[in-house]
Amino acid sequence: MDKSDAVAVVTGAARGIGRRICTELAARGYRVAANDLNAPDATVAELRSAGAEAIALPGDVSDEATVRTMVEAVMEEFGRTDVLVNNAGISTIVPAEETTLADWSRTLAVNLTGPFLTCREFGRAMLDQGSGSIVNVSSVAGLLGVGDRAAYNASKHGLVGLTRTLAAEWGGRGVRANAVCPGWVKTEMDESVHKHQKTAA
Ligand SMILES: NC(=O)c1ccc[n+]([C@@H]2O[C@H](COP(=O)([O-])OP(=O)(O)OC[C@H]3O[C@@H](n4cnc5c(N)ncnc54)[C@H](O)[C@@H]3O)[C@@H](O)[C@H]2O)c1
Repeated sequence: MDKSDAVAVVTGAARGIGRRICTELAARGYRVAANDLNAPDATVAELRSAGAEAIALPGDVSDEATVRTMVEAVMEEFGRTDVLVNNAGISTIVPAEETTLADWSRTLAVNLTGPFLTCREFGRAMLDQGSGSIVNVSSVAGLLGVGDRAAYNASKHGLVGLTRTLAAEWGGRGVRANAVCPGWVKTEMDESVHKHQKTAA
């Protein structure tokens, strides 16, 4: 396959790390499908102005029907998926004893159920092709205990576990799964963390 035919799907691509992943993939010749809660039009416009093929995939990754629609849109537009980057995530910064069930559930839904759904749905297409690469964006919080982040840490640890399982299950069928665990990256998410810590201090 010519590299220019390769297709990458990136979630949470409107800003921050996800937007930068899109520009890097486009610079390497990928056609890019960029997801975010609302259509990431600025990202898509930036990619197209750089000469890349790109489409927007609006919607919540934690919603099963939405993820199925995303797969349909990518298959209709590009006919294949070679790379899936699960980058969408939210951060909940609150002491464990004050963590509400709503915060816990939403954090697990976006950071863990979302990647499960996208891996399952895009993974099927990759398994049919016999090739593909999944990159799940976890965190150092997926490897270590960090205070005031019970839901976030649990979700990111879970994402590492999901990734290891997929690597064991799909690696022999041509579909690789890896997790990356970044430390601090200065983005809008990080700014909201610092705001919270200032308030909490
Ligand atoms: N910034 C850091 O220091 C840092 C460190 C380690 C890991 N990470 C991880 O990297 C990823 C990106 O972080 P960032 O700092 O760029 O965050 P960010 O908040 O700047 O961007 C996250 C993007 O995800 C989107 N998003 C949120 N919920 C979504 C959903 N349900 N469906 C689709 N899109 C959704 C947001 O709209 C936003 O555009 C996250 O998974 C985060 O946990 C960040």
